[in-house]
Amino acid sequence: MEFVLYEQKDAIGIITINREKALNALNSQVLDELNEAFDAVDLNTVRCLILTGAGEKSFVAGADIGEMSTLTKAEGEAFGKKGNDVFRKIETFPIPVIAAINGFALGGGCEISMSCDIRICSENAMFGQPEVGLGITPGFGGTQRLARLVGAGMAKQMIYTARNIKADEAYRIGLVNEVVKATVDEEGNVTVSAKENLMAAAEKMAASIAKNAPIAVRNCKKAINDGLEVDMDKAVVIEEKLFGDCFETEDQKAGMGNFLKKKDDPTKVKVVDFKNC
Ligand code: CAA
Repeated sequence: MEFVLYEQKDAIGIITINREKALNALNSQVLDELNEAFDAVDLNTVRCLILTGAGEKSFVAGADIGEMSTLTKAEGEAFGKKGNDVFRKIETFPIPVIAAINGFALGGGCEISMSCDIRICSENAMFGQPEVGLGITPGFGGTQRLARLVGAGMAKQMIYTARNIKADEAYRIGLVNEVVKATVDEEGNVTVSAKENLMAAAEKMAASIAKNAPIAVRNCKKAINDGLEVDMDKAVVIEEKLFGDCFETEDQKAGMGNFLKKKDDPTKVKVVDFKNC
């Protein structure tokens, strides 16, 4: 693939949008390649994904403005659907996806990060939905997911004003879970870049997810996602089904067996080798 890289480190898959010259802007080809990259993830061995952008400056600077500039109404709608289909695939992907946001996350960039389960960013990250300044609406889920994540009032302010916000404000409003800084020495020189620290933090978080029972983690994702779409009476039924589905699995036996063993003999090791079955 030309614009998407994939790497697997143990049980963690890393998908990198690699179109650095255009600040990783999403054109049709990038969207197609992203779609393919997600389809190709080996769900038997990968338990958590990280999505990031190439370089230090930009995660994704939006949908490709050059490509969009000549679209007709019908083509615009089709382009929106193309992005939405890929982002919905990410949102409903069976395993958790962490967005490691290294710089600009504007328009489609902010939107793709919001289709991920968890967002962490570097201190130089910048978020925004600048679309109304370009004469369009956010078109890859921004009008829907931003309001769900940060509340309708804040989402409307960001979208109507097209004002970008920095990492600390994104953290304050709950758009990101964590802001990662560069490491500096006593003289203030950067010894480890924010991007490197960001990737280390993302991998650490991914590893702490990957060590848990995989069926249970997947069922949690599904329960949270599906439950948020219905009223509480229906939501708890969704939870009950997914809770029940965990029983009789090897993972449930191993996890609970380990706890009971530890109670009998506190010297027993705590690490459980979950088998995904
Ligand atoms: N689409 C296409 N190309 C883009 C791009 C985008 N969204 N963002 C940046 N680029 C390209 C630039 O055209 C430039 O290419 P050239 O070197 O060939 O000229 C290259 O990336 C570097 O960009 P800049 O020179 O502009 O870099 P900068 O540091 O001066 O500015 C920036 C960075 C503030 C992010 C600026 O590039 C910018 O404002 N980009 C557009 C951001 C934006 O409006 N995104 C929303 C797009 S609309 C959308 O996403 C709709 C949707 O919801 C689906």
